[in-house]
Amino acid sequence: MAKAGSYTSTAKLLHWGMALLWIGAWCIGMLATHWRDELNGHHELTFLHKAMASTLLFLVVARIAWRLSHPAPALPETMSPFMKRGALVGHILLYVVALVGLPVSGWYWSSVADKPIIVAGLFTLPPLVAPDKDLYDLVKWIHTYTAWLCGALVGGHVLVALKHHFIERDDVLKGMLPGQNVR
Ligand code: HEM
Ligand code: HEM
Repeated sequence: MAKAGSYTSTAKLLHWGMALLWIGAWCIGMLATHWRDELNGHHELTFLHKAMASTLLFLVVARIAWRLSHPAPALPETMSPFMKRGALVGHILLYVVALVGLPVSGWYWSSVADKPIIVAGLFTLPPLVAPDKDLYDLVKWIHTYTAWLCGALVGGHVLVALKHHFIERDDVLKGMLPGQNVR
């Protein structure tokens, strides 16, 4: 058990493991589409993007279950009620949009396009809906712009975490770092 003030070791492992996967999948998705001719001639980056990103669909279930049974540590007293509410809203958006909505939109896109998703290169994810070429452009648009929106959301999240650590000099970042028990 982590001391009050830090996230549990399991929450930290899930946060950092999924953060690595998420940022990796985001960068590979960008390389796959915007450097298609140079880097993605045989769809190898698309395969890797889908293989990595689809694991988040499973991990997020475990993460939300863990989070609902293990509350987050209290935020520092130096934060105003407004900022505390902002942090909560930001985290809910990360869960709903970046960790559930974006992978589900990718799953939906591959389903309407009738293309397989091989989870972690191990097994095929069943399609979410029947193939439908008429929906292809709309769902592609949704996945692409949700991905850009999430890039901004995660970028803001990282900047806020660094601001807590280097400017406010509080324990918010330490509470998520491995091996640290604070607050
Ligand atoms: C089941 C999960 C997912 C599937 C099946 C999926 C599928 C795809 C596909 C097929 C592409 C186009 C690749 C190409 O044209 O070669 C794409 C692009 C992209 N995906 Fe995903 N994706 C999934 C989850 C995610 C997640 C979790 C992220 C964020 C970490 C993400 C971020 C992106 C980005 C940034 C692009 C490029 C967007 C652009 O065109 O500017 N995707 N995705
Ligand atoms: C270098 C990258 C990252 C850093 C430095 C970072 C830092 C942090 C910190 C310090 C917290 C704890 C905040 C608090 O105690 O109030 C946190 C929570 C959180 N982070 Fe990150 N993070 C990073 C990447 C990501 C990514 C890529 C995602 C998802 C796409 C993410 C999703 C979340 C979520 C959902 C929480 C809330 C956890 C909860 O209370 O259940 N983080 N992060």
